Amino acid sequence: MSEIKTVGVLGCGLMGAGIAQVAAMQGFTTIVREVEQAVLDRGLGRIRKFLDDGVAKGKVSEDVRTTTLANLSGTTTFDDLGGCDVVIEAIVENLDVKRAAYDALERVVGGHTIFLSNTSSLCITELAAATKRPDRFGGLHFFNPVPLMKLVEVIRGLATTDATYERVFAFAQALGKEPITAPDRPGFIVNRLLVPYLLDAIRAYEHGLGTVEDIDKGMKLGCGHPMGPFTLLDFVGLDTTYFIANIMFEEFREPAYAPPPLLKRMVLAGRLGRKSGEGFYKY
Ligand code: 3HC
Repeated sequence: MSEIKTVGVLGCGLMGAGIAQVAAMQGFTTIVREVEQAVLDRGLGRIRKFLDDGVAKGKVSEDVRTTTLANLSGTTTFDDLGGCDVVIEAIVENLDVKRAAYDALERVVGGHTIFLSNTSSLCITELAAATKRPDRFGGLHFFNPVPLMKLVEVIRGLATTDATYERVFAFAQALGKEPITAPDRPGFIVNRLLVPYLLDAIRAYEHGLGTVEDIDKGMKLGCGHPMGPFTLLDFVGLDTTYFIANIMFEEFREPAYAPPPLLKRMVLAGRLGRKSGEGFYKY
């Protein structure tokens, strides 16, 4: 991966911070950009805490913590991303906001820079078309918690060249991840299977199949899942699940992807899961 040395990350929220951490841990010079210093500081703090906890658990060496933090810097400007060979965008799932960010990036980066989006549900071809480099654009979809989940999905847009795709796949491996190739269809591979399962769990609960606790226990202890569906829904975020489900339903028009009424109402009530303090469980 001699040609990719410097990695930019747009967004230092839960996913962006995890992605920046992984890139810095694997030896890439990594610059993460947030809109506001306070949000950036929170994200960088989360990375530091993960590394400190890792050292305390004996999972991360002191050396790795030191070099990771040395490889990592934060910024609130686009100018500092000018020298990046790859920029991974992990900002809000809104086409206009992403388009504005790509515009600003294109003003400062070189022609060789590859743009990657960590979107979980937006169309990669549409995002690529919002840039002047659709041939050097792809999807790189990570899973939460990014430093612990081995998988990453590599997605080609309609205009992504073979050369870009191959570089991105090798880059995903250089990040220490196990990449799989997924099509540019809503949900890619994992969410295409996971989201209908989560929606089905809500529907089943609405129809009286069992308590939230028992359904979770069933799938955890009966099937060896690390989290039951409701714990996972709260972990992913009910708003995120609702957003992805709507996009999948709009594209495929199949009932399996239709968000159940309870999910919509919980989102409307602000019960978004762990991040809001209440979802199917209280935190
Ligand atoms: N540094 C290094 N390693 C650490 C660490 C740290 N700070 N914290 C934890 N670890 C290690 C632990 O030592 C442990 O390693 P081991 O397996 O070798 O012993 C491993 O990570 C698991 O950590 P814990 O034992 O503390 O925690 P759990 O066993 O409770 O696992 C979990 C936590 C990994 C989150 C697990 O519950 C899980 O896999 N849940 C499912 C998550 C999932 O499905 N994510 C995908 C969501 S979908 C998505 O993201 C897509 C989007 O588009 C919606």
